[in-house]
Amino acid sequence: MLKISDLKVNYGYVKALKGVSLEVKEGSIVTILGANGAGKSTTLKSISGIVPATEGEIEFMGQSIKKLSPEEIVSLGVVQCPEGRRIFPQFSVEENLRIGAFGRRKNIKNINDDYERVYDYFPKLKERKDQVAGTLSGGEQQMLAIARGLMANPKIFLLDEPSLGLAPIVVKEIFGIIEDINKAGVTILLVEQNAFQASKIADYVYVIETGNIVISGTKEEVISNENIKKSYLGA
Ligand SMILES: Nc1ncnc2c1ncn2[C@@H]1O[C@H](COP(=O)(O)OP(=O)(O)O)[C@@H](O)[C@H]1O
Ligand SMILES: [Mg+2]
Repeated sequence: MLKISDLKVNYGYVKALKGVSLEVKEGSIVTILGANGAGKSTTLKSISGIVPATEGEIEFMGQSIKKLSPEEIVSLGVVQCPEGRRIFPQFSVEENLRIGAFGRRKNIKNINDDYERVYDYFPKLKERKDQVAGTLSGGEQQMLAIARGLMANPKIFLLDEPSLGLAPIVVKEIFGIIEDINKAGVTILLVEQNAFQASKIADYVYVIETGNIVISGTKEEVISNENIKKSYLGA
């Protein structure tokens, strides 16, 4: 569904990605693990068209998306939930969701159906739909960021460190919801430092270090890899 070949991204003199290749099959959950600064966010941002690729190719459903604008990429169904939540704290939960639907053709009836579809995953957000988003807990703000992304109707959903700064029990809940979203037919590309939880829900795992993919394999292969255990799983 998504195929990245030899992707290179430079920020001025900084070579953030040095030739990343990876593939995401339709219906799967793929996780990219990596430490701080490895190039995870840059990978997602270049798929979304937010940072330009210096070299390489990005194909979505057989079509090159490398030269498309972020808006065009979203409208194809490639939707990113950015790192650090980026919700609008002064707006209500439901207003934040409406902003998420903004990128696509405005059809009020569909948008109302979408609120319900999204609230099915996040009953806590429905209870708080009129609450100002800035007063939500960290976990609820992350849920809102994911919910807002869903309002854009992703075919593939790119999630940038949804577990960041959250308590383990909240992380477990959020990863459970990500699995539910996947079961409903949305392909997932998840990037994380939180290796253990993130590999548990993955079908396939890539490990990125300083702009290069260094290891890849099925969840079982990667979890049993001794180097991974040492570097990422704290074992
Ligand atoms: N806007 C930027 N300008 C210059 N360097 C950047 C910029 N964004 C990221 N970098 C650098 O690119 C590398 C990869 O960053 P990033 O993709 O954010 O890593 P990760 O998400 O894995 O923590 C890092 O060395 C980082 O300092
Ligand atoms: Mg990042």
